[in-house]
Amino acid sequence: MTAPTKPQAQYLKDYKAPNFLIEHTELTFDLQPLTTRVTALLTLQRADNNNTPLVLDGIDLRLVSLSVGGAAITDYQIVGEQLIINNLPEQCQLSIVTEISPQTNTSLEGLYLSGGAYCTQCEAQGFRKITYYMDRPDVLATFDVTIIADKKYPQLLSNGNQVDSGETQDGRHFVKWQDPFKKPSYLFALVAGDFDVLKDTYTTKSGRDVELALFVDKGNLSKTPHAIASLKKAMQWDEERFNLEYDLDIYMIVAVDFFNMGAMENKGLNVFNSKCVLANQETATDKDYHTIESIVGHEYFHNWTGNRVTCRDWFQLSLKEGLTVFRDQEFSSDIGSRALNRIDAVKVMRTHQFSEDAGPMAHPIRPEKVIEMNNFYTVTVYDKGAEVIRMMHTLLGEESFQKGMDLYFERHDGQAVTCDDFVSAMSDASGVDLQQFKRWYSQSGTPRLNVEQSFDNDTNTYSLIIKQCAPSNQPENKPLHIPFAIELLDANGQSIELEYKGEKQDHVLNVTSKIQTFSFDNIATKPVAVLLEDFSAPCILTQQTTQTELLHIMRFARSDFSRWDAQQQLFIKAVKSQISDASNSALSADIINALRVLISTKEGDLALIAELLKIPSFDTLAAEFDVIPVDEIIKVTHTFEQQIADELSDEFVNCYNSLQDDGSVSASAVANRALKQLCLHYLAKTQKTEAITFINEAANSNNMTNVLSALSAAVKALNPIQHTLLSHFDSQWRHDVLVMDKWFALQAMQSGNDAIDNIKALYEHPCFDFSNPNRVRALVGSFSHFNTAQFHRADGKGYELLGDLLIKLNAINPQNASRMLTPFMSWKRYDDARSQAMKQQLQRLADLDGLSDDLYEKVEKALA
Ligand code: TRP
Ligand code: ZN
Repeated sequence: MTAPTKPQAQYLKDYKAPNFLIEHTELTFDLQPLTTRVTALLTLQRADNNNTPLVLDGIDLRLVSLSVGGAAITDYQIVGEQLIINNLPEQCQLSIVTEISPQTNTSLEGLYLSGGAYCTQCEAQGFRKITYYMDRPDVLATFDVTIIADKKYPQLLSNGNQVDSGETQDGRHFVKWQDPFKKPSYLFALVAGDFDVLKDTYTTKSGRDVELALFVDKGNLSKTPHAIASLKKAMQWDEERFNLEYDLDIYMIVAVDFFNMGAMENKGLNVFNSKCVLANQETATDKDYHTIESIVGHEYFHNWTGNRVTCRDWFQLSLKEGLTVFRDQEFSSDIGSRALNRIDAVKVMRTHQFSEDAGPMAHPIRPEKVIEMNNFYTVTVYDKGAEVIRMMHTLLGEESFQKGMDLYFERHDGQAVTCDDFVSAMSDASGVDLQQFKRWYSQSGTPRLNVEQSFDNDTNTYSLIIKQCAPSNQPENKPLHIPFAIELLDANGQSIELEYKGEKQDHVLNVTSKIQTFSFDNIATKPVAVLLEDFSAPCILTQQTTQTELLHIMRFARSDFSRWDAQQQLFIKAVKSQISDASNSALSADIINALRVLISTKEGDLALIAELLKIPSFDTLAAEFDVIPVDEIIKVTHTFEQQIADELSDEFVNCYNSLQDDGSVSASAVANRALKQLCLHYLAKTQKTEAITFINEAANSNNMTNVLSALSAAVKALNPIQHTLLSHFDSQWRHDVLVMDKWFALQAMQSGNDAIDNIKALYEHPCFDFSNPNRVRALVGSFSHFNTAQFHRADGKGYELLGDLLIKLNAINPQNASRMLTPFMSWKRYDDARSQAMKQQLQRLADLDGLSDDLYEKVEKALA
């Protein structure tokens, strides 16, 4: 045996156009669990003038035969994961027969068996586990696919339209599909199984009828209406807001239990993680409903942003993902609460994305070096990518942005393009210069904005001095073009018209240099400034704002997002001041009173009020420190929560009693439940007799949002009632693994010192399964992300639990292992003892025989 070779990196700068085109691809699958035969017939056209070899990608394939026009090919080599064929003519039909084993494929990439059904996952580079191919997104072909299988798999699905079906001589059956749209291999999909189907139809605005079909495991039909309703909303929204219509006669979604991510946008045949599809009121929470709606939308929106126009290479991933996340965020905001959606998006940025950007995996939204592509489906590419699109939207305005989209499709429909092509369309259509703005694509790290304010009483002039500093891990970064939105409030909370020397000024400031001053005059008294309104750029803002000013913003800002943001700042300030000086032991009366007003008057969106009453998460607070003071943050947040619970307990009881829950999924019912949940969370920490009554009532309701809010309140408050509730839940829901995931997640939150043993015991629970990513994430993912005290135990036992798991997952499913590794990536941000203990786990992985490329790339960067 040869020594394992070090994984090879790919670089953006090395991009070369393909030397062959595949104009048409015909695939025949003869499905068998251990030996599936795949016949590929590729219509090839040479694209260069030299007699270069054809290089095809392939992993874990048994090559059966290779021929051109019936004649076997002999002039070829297999080198590592490539098949190299020499001396092919200008044009030919290449036939490749290979065999694969879906049943033993636990990586959930390529073709695999999932709970009795065959399914595929090809993005990013899984197609090469199915057959030899030019497995790169800039090779676009039409596909004909024939699936042959036993009749115990009645439904045989692939992309496009069904054109033929029938029986084979040996009593099996087949179906043939044709996809008229050229596509790269990563959008290929095949599913074979025995499903229940919910069918529906949608008529596009130009009057074409589209058949909709949602395939789920037998018995799950009652959980399908929400996903289908979401799909129809998405189709209509994309017509109205982006003028984009669906293009095939059928749109299919299949739900599978074993899936590495949320869902996949394969042309005409989306494959979904069942947890992102299935919902009814008994089994899914309001949050699940929202997630499903947004993911169904996301995958649908990819049909244009991703499929009709795709990526030239994988470094351009944000071209489709950043843009599609932006589109799904807008979808959710247009049909629901814009403020709450913005709050959710910004939480993701400030916690996960900022920490990724400050850590060893920091990369620009368009990465330049990649070892394992699966490692780059990140919050940076997706969520910061969406923020970059959003900034262009802010700079251009909706109308010009839509013109840019029109031009983008006019130029690039049917092509594989780059992020530069997208920005060019935006700037050409609008006339806005985006040259400097493009640095957002190539620079990583979070820019810091330092803002100083001054007010001149004599001239009634107010000035903002804005400094942008490169992030400390990227000192070479050049200044970015930052759209910096502001609002100035007067003493009565009124918004001040912005003007300077008689000219009206826009509320979005164009920050482009290292230091810039912006002035506004005709202002009577020193205003209160709302800065970076709506989080208009993904930056860290430092400003000297007083508690009084923050309370003013919280009351009067026109942006509900900024009101919440001020509230977060108030809490953050309080936490920090207590950590630096323990004699500051409580939240001020002003803050408590502001909360009291919110909960008693209940003015406006109740879901927003619930958000305004929440203490920032551990991750949000941790982001404020260079070395994360784990124990102190836990202690202070605990004290503050207890104070709010005690001082406002009567208000929480009254509020809870006043809220009517009609059990529906209307926006108002959802908001009601959100606020009830908030009340319960605090009440569970008090001695109020109502607490137990409310918890029991909610726990026994037939609405999963209420049930979970009761259980989670009891668990987090260490209320003894939790044990009865948890064991009841287990016996009630064992038949439904998706519901049991909620139970596993609650179990993972146990704060006693037996938490680790408890988790190890749950590995033996009949519902637990190491090969199912949903189970693993529900139990161990929740533990490592949310059970801060136990995960970061001083004795390192929490880290050891995760280290053991990663070693196990490395052999089963490297992609999932790599995602589960994330908490270790920020090991340098903890105190010595903790960081050494985390490092030790990383070192264990580095020393492992057979370490996957996925883990290698991250471990190596973490330890560098
Ligand atoms: N393109 C998918 C999406 O964002 C992401 C995805 C689904 C994926 N499955 C994957 C990415 C597997 C990598 C590997 O909608
Ligand atoms: Zn996507």
